[in-house]
Amino acid sequence: MSESDLPLRYQTPAQWAKVALTQPLALLNDHAHLEKKAATNALELLNRWPEPNPPENWVAAMTAVARDEVEHLATVSRLLARRGGKLTRQHGNPYASELHKLVRKGRGKEELIDRLMISALIEARSCERFKLLGDEVKDDAELRKLYRGLWASEHGHYRTFIQLAEQILPEKIVGKRWDEMLDAEARLIQRQPAGPRMHAGCEI
Ligand SMILES: [Fe+2]
Ligand SMILES: [Fe+2]
Repeated sequence: MSESDLPLRYQTPAQWAKVALTQPLALLNDHAHLEKKAATNALELLNRWPEPNPPENWVAAMTAVARDEVEHLATVSRLLARRGGKLTRQHGNPYASELHKLVRKGRGKEELIDRLMISALIEARSCERFKLLGDEVKDDAELRKLYRGLWASEHGHYRTFIQLAEQILPEKIVGKRWDEMLDAEARLIQRQPAGPRMHAGCEI
C-alpha cells in the first residue's frame, strides 16, 4: 500500500461530488461544522491519555490536530461567509453518531483505541470525499485549492490516530479491531441519506 492509499472498503462514486456540489453553500456549512467537531474531538481525546504510560507524543499530536482543525474551520467559515452563506447554529451528523455507537464504553484502553479508530475513519472518509470534490470543481480555483489542501492535512491526521492506537495496544489487537471497524464504516456510509453533506450517501 502506498502512503497515499486509503484503507476504506466502500468507494464513493464520483457522482456523489456532483450531487453534493449542487448546493455548495450547504456543503460548506456542513463542512465547517465537521471541522469544528474535529477540533473539539482532538481536545476531548487529549484529556483521555492512557495511564500509566501514555504515548510520548500524545499531547503534541492532539494539540497539532486541534490547531489544524481550528485553522480549517476558520478557512471554511470565511469562504462560506464570503460566498453569501451563513454558519447555522444547529448541525446533525448521523454518520459520526452511528460510528460512535461502536465505541466499547467503560473498557479502558479498548475504549480509547475505538475512539482513535473512529477519528481515523472520519478523517479517511473525508479525505476520499475531498479528492472527489477537488476533481469536480475544475472551474473554481478557490474551492479546488481548498479541497486539495485539506486532503493532505486530513490524510496526515488519519495516520496520526492509527499510529497512536498502535502505541496503546499491541499492533495485532489494533489490526483486528481496525478490520472490524472498516467493515462497519463501509456498511454505515452507504446507509446515509443523500444530500449536500460531506458524509452523505449516494443516490446511485
Ligand atoms: Fe480538518
Ligand atoms: Fe482532520
